[in-house]
Amino acid sequence: MSLRQQYGKCVKMAGLLGRPDMLFVFDANEVERVFRGEDGTPHRPSMPSLNYYKHVLRKNFFGAEENCAGVIAVHGDSWAAFRTKVSKAALSAGAAAQYTEPVSEVADAFVDRIRKVRNEELETPGDFLNEIHKWSLESLSLIALDTRLNCFEANDGSESQRLIDAVNTFFLCVGELELRTPWWRLYPTAMFKRYVAALDTILSVTLSHVEKALEECQRNGGSKSLLQDLVTAAGPRVAAVAALDMFLVGIDTTSNAVASTLYQLSLRPELQERLYEEIDNVLHGRPMKSGDINQMPLLKACVKEVMRMYPVVIGNGRQLTKDTVICGYNIPKGTQVIFQHYVMGNDDEYFWNSSEFQPERWLRRSSTQKHHAFASLPFGFGKRMCLGRRFAELEIHTVICKMVQAFKMEYHHELMDYHVHPMYTPNGPIRIKLIDR
Ligand code: HEM
Repeated sequence: MSLRQQYGKCVKMAGLLGRPDMLFVFDANEVERVFRGEDGTPHRPSMPSLNYYKHVLRKNFFGAEENCAGVIAVHGDSWAAFRTKVSKAALSAGAAAQYTEPVSEVADAFVDRIRKVRNEELETPGDFLNEIHKWSLESLSLIALDTRLNCFEANDGSESQRLIDAVNTFFLCVGELELRTPWWRLYPTAMFKRYVAALDTILSVTLSHVEKALEECQRNGGSKSLLQDLVTAAGPRVAAVAALDMFLVGIDTTSNAVASTLYQLSLRPELQERLYEEIDNVLHGRPMKSGDINQMPLLKACVKEVMRMYPVVIGNGRQLTKDTVICGYNIPKGTQVIFQHYVMGNDDEYFWNSSEFQPERWLRRSSTQKHHAFASLPFGFGKRMCLGRRFAELEIHTVICKMVQAFKMEYHHELMDYHVHPMYTPNGPIRIKLIDR
């Protein structure tokens, strides 16, 4: 925010230890122009440590078949070939809808779990975010692996607990490895070794589930699912690598978006009542089915508004694949450009009364309330946009819907600051009072 105020809409950051120079862009028109001008293989400069894992440390696995390294930390033709194999299965209209009922069951299990682990004051426990991580992992395993891991009941030593621990270790390490001085490039630091061990665990558990799904498919023809679609269309290795990539970027993002949304709703009892009414009018107490969320515009608008003001991914980036003019400067090919969506999403130039939490801005767009479509892009844009968007939205909308149905949420502590960790998320334990409806 202060860089934008001090230097304007386009700022070059140079001299960062172990990192290339970067260009920060705060201008939504320029973001639109760069995104719309992208060629067939946009390059997102992310996770060099994962790139090293896939292409150096475990090249025997990821390089065993052509174009089988996945999409995260992969670029160029190899990325394009893999993305083409999985896009249709992941982004088609029905891809997420088929999971409405099972995802809703996981959300019910989460509500039951939270009801049990509330403290005497009916507040969420200190490790609430960890409980949300378990919900997220449970939901994603269902989608990516056709498997209920039973994360809420996982015991020490179980495969589920090993996966939960590995995913948590990955989150813990990735922020440190990516955001701090990259000593791991010089020697394998203790943190880097933990990171590699966690990735190995996630990969091996993922592979074992893909094998089980394959056996099931051969025995019973398999049921219709993302995993079966991928195995049939592109083979088991692609299915396993796609699942791995989804675990790496689909859990922390979704959990923190849910944590942030619950916190923001807990500050607004009146909004919760309107949401409750909207949900009740659609469901009339019956279980959720495919298409119901589309009848809940206020619910969707609340999530969009949280993502505008508090986007879990505060900025998105590209390494330019050609020389490009940005804000009137000639920016050479290879430069890393970071689009600062958190700053643009909170700028009055792009959003009317930007500092006010107003979900209605996504429902009614009078000419005074218009906003710039490229200022808030929580899932990115174009050929490289989030592959899991439809799943993420289904999961988030469903669990928020269930929480609003089950509880009146109140917050009785000092307002929380947000921090980048590496997701943009409330800083500290989120203590929400949950009063049964
Ligand atoms: C609130 C939740 C989420 C947010 C905010 C989010 C955001 C993003 C963003 C900003 C990108 C970069 C897009 C670009 O470069 O234009 C991305 C990429 C990606 N996301 Fe998500 N994501 C979320 C959840 C998920 C979930 C649940 C999955 C998996 C089921 C997922 C899978 C992916 C994958 C595989 C990519 C890489 C796509 C590529 O490089 O081709 N994401 N996400």
